[in-house]
Amino acid sequence: MTALTLSTSSAAALRADAVVVGVAKGAKSPVVAAGAEAVDKAFGGKLAAVLETLGATGAEGEVTKLPAASGLKAPVVLAVGLGEVPAKGDGYDAETLRRAAGAAARALSGSKKGAFALPIEDPAGATAVAEGALLGAYTYDKSNGNGGNAKDKDKKNNGPLAEVALVGGKPRDKAYKAAVERATALVAEINRARDLINTPSNLLNPAAFAAEAVAAAKEHGLKTEVLDEKALKKGGYGGILGVGQGSEAPPRLVRIAYTHPKAEKTLALVGKGITYDSGGISLKPAGHNETMKCDMSGAAAVFAAVVTAAKLGLRVNLTGWLALAENMPSGSATRPGDVLSMYGGKTVEVLNTDAEGRLVLADAITRAGEEKPDAIVDVATLTGAMVLALGNRTFGIMTNDEAFRTTLHEIAGEVGEQSWPMPLPDHLRKGIDSPVADLANMGERMGGGLVAGIFLKEFVADGITWGHLDIAGPAFNESGPFGYTPKGGTGAAVRTLVRLAERTAEGDLG
Ligand code: BES
Ligand code: MN
Ligand code: ZN
Repeated sequence: MTALTLSTSSAAALRADAVVVGVAKGAKSPVVAAGAEAVDKAFGGKLAAVLETLGATGAEGEVTKLPAASGLKAPVVLAVGLGEVPAKGDGYDAETLRRAAGAAARALSGSKKGAFALPIEDPAGATAVAEGALLGAYTYDKSNGNGGNAKDKDKKNNGPLAEVALVGGKPRDKAYKAAVERATALVAEINRARDLINTPSNLLNPAAFAAEAVAAAKEHGLKTEVLDEKALKKGGYGGILGVGQGSEAPPRLVRIAYTHPKAEKTLALVGKGITYDSGGISLKPAGHNETMKCDMSGAAAVFAAVVTAAKLGLRVNLTGWLALAENMPSGSATRPGDVLSMYGGKTVEVLNTDAEGRLVLADAITRAGEEKPDAIVDVATLTGAMVLALGNRTFGIMTNDEAFRTTLHEIAGEVGEQSWPMPLPDHLRKGIDSPVADLANMGERMGGGLVAGIFLKEFVADGITWGHLDIAGPAFNESGPFGYTPKGGTGAAVRTLVRLAERTAEGDLG
């Protein structure tokens, strides 16, 4: 991954391929942001005027590259738009800095080193710029996916910006150091999640995903337990088995646990890990299945969050549950109308084999609840309905506890993830009644995202606080990159989960 350092040099003296400065939208003309003083000086105090002449406005995400003036060690200045100048006394908010740093890092893809001289006022600002730059620098190495021919250079992209130097922080200050270390640890895991999501389904089946988890766990001193198809059968995991039984690649349930000796709380995180969702016998039509390698994004997010917590040594116990299966049609696949006996004994009539996420999650949520955690949060690319409701950049939050819903929404906002609280209306419950089983896996079409949430709620043990994040919209970016968000897997929800773990460790859940 891209390396990150806090530099002691000034933006003018630093050797780099480009020096990144911020430019904002002033009342009439663009305004150069704080942090760029040395660069502006090299331009004789006329950097804003030069940028305006080049057509820069300071609009968010805008990138303007210009040759550096003499006196600067870097040959190129890259001015990135910050949007409106903040009100007097206010600094730029963290998400603005994160996005700007991300856009700049993307524009420097293939370069060796970028010096980021953005307006950093405090350690939080440094974290934001660090996260944005490292997230924006991410590229998926296609050589993993072209049949293993890593030498085929034509199929490779430029590769990420290799090194980010942050200018304007305080390299010897503990808080700055910690801020940058946190960002580095977190983004490494988000980028690992992105790699897993982007890996084609023929190269990442449930067993391969489980092996990745076991390998990472070894490296970071985490405990893992992998239930293979035999163990799942023995344990009665009818949901996971029912979804996976049509595939040549058998399902897995992975438990990956981080514990801290002084932890007072335990969180269980449950991730939907459908390594490919064809829909099964209720086959998805063309146009709806091309991106379904992304259907394990919830499990990838959970995996990333647990490893990050371990790297940061958070004072909390975090247990990740990865419910891994491939949903395929075949002679052995579950049929619409079949009844599954779920883990814990409830029965479910499968009316639509494409509503498979809730089936694997139900088993994992029930299993997670047996350990009596203080809270369970599941993360899933669960419904197209949530995408219709909230669009491509916002995940839905559903819970069995209103205060927890508010807390999750606040936490997401704190770390710059867009989310929205959604209800679980009681009247939708009767829609999933079944004449032949305890429940059906499908109900009313209207409010389908909420119906899925109501289904999951049935599997949460009494007395346990539960949250459900439907990330079907933001998990995978099918359009062009923006800010720090690449095309493809985004790593949605990882930052929210890590912040939730931090807040739990701090004993501060609002
Ligand atoms: N994995 C899909 C949901 C999805 C849709 C994720 C778009 C990402 C982008 C899920 O398994 C699914 O197929 N859900 C069905 C449920 C329906 C059959 C009740 C849906 O949303 O159409
Ligand atoms: Mn599906
Ligand atoms: Zn799915």
